Amino acid sequence: MTTYPNQHPTKSHLFASLTAYLQDLQESGVEGIPAELMATATLGTESQPHRSSSARHDTESAMDNQQNAPETHETLEQIRKVMGACQRCKLGATRKNLVFGVGNPKARLVFVGEGPGADEDTQGEPFVGDAGKMLNRIIAAMELKREDVYICNIVKCRPPQNRPPEADEVSACSPFLLRQLQSVRPEVIVALGTSAAQTLLQSKVPISKMRGKFHDFHGMPLMPTYHPSYLLRTGGNSDSFWSVWDDMIQVLQFLKLPVPDKSRKK
Ligand code: URA
Repeated sequence: MTTYPNQHPTKSHLFASLTAYLQDLQESGVEGIPAELMATATLGTESQPHRSSSARHDTESAMDNQQNAPETHETLEQIRKVMGACQRCKLGATRKNLVFGVGNPKARLVFVGEGPGADEDTQGEPFVGDAGKMLNRIIAAMELKREDVYICNIVKCRPPQNRPPEADEVSACSPFLLRQLQSVRPEVIVALGTSAAQTLLQSKVPISKMRGKFHDFHGMPLMPTYHPSYLLRTGGNSDSFWSVWDDMIQVLQFLKLPVPDKSRKK
């Protein structure tokens, strides 16, 4: 698992990403910024209350969220279009495909990983390699389907040799992740692994200490848990595996979904 020695973006990184964000908004035809968006336009704010999951009883589908899309609602297609053939950071030069995200644009549950690996880079879809198979197992164990949820990453392009994304790459990509998450507006975000949890929560606390409880991400409850790649290393019946399951039980309970009974290791 990775940590960023220089994780907190400098003022110039913040300024650069805010400028890029405002330019992108302008290019996509936005002429003004709603006050609400301005109040939440940085990653890692702790200012908004959690959205209650109780307002979802008349849902069309148990896994679609039911927020009333505000007039300023940006669709995932619009955000993808603004990214275009992105070269905002050096990962653009080496990637095969930009891996934007996949799944239900109205998902109640979003999984955020670190960044695409080789398989994802080739196929243009997140979590399709071995880690993806493990994530699929977790989703299936929750009695959900992959297409019910939304899956994306902190960075959208593969870091060479699967190294952790660097601070400038995270800064360049973060505004788009924030826009994706604000577009889907899930009831719960699951941050998979150290990079995702530490980046979203702007924290250096180890994943082992963050996991197991809900945190706030822009008013959306966020559950950090271990990365599926870590589970591949520790095994399908390890303590970490069951810790992830415990975290997913909390997620299911929060979403008021049935909790399947799984027999624990002896
Ligand atoms: N690991 C990640 O964090 N994301 C992917 O998409 C694949 C592997």
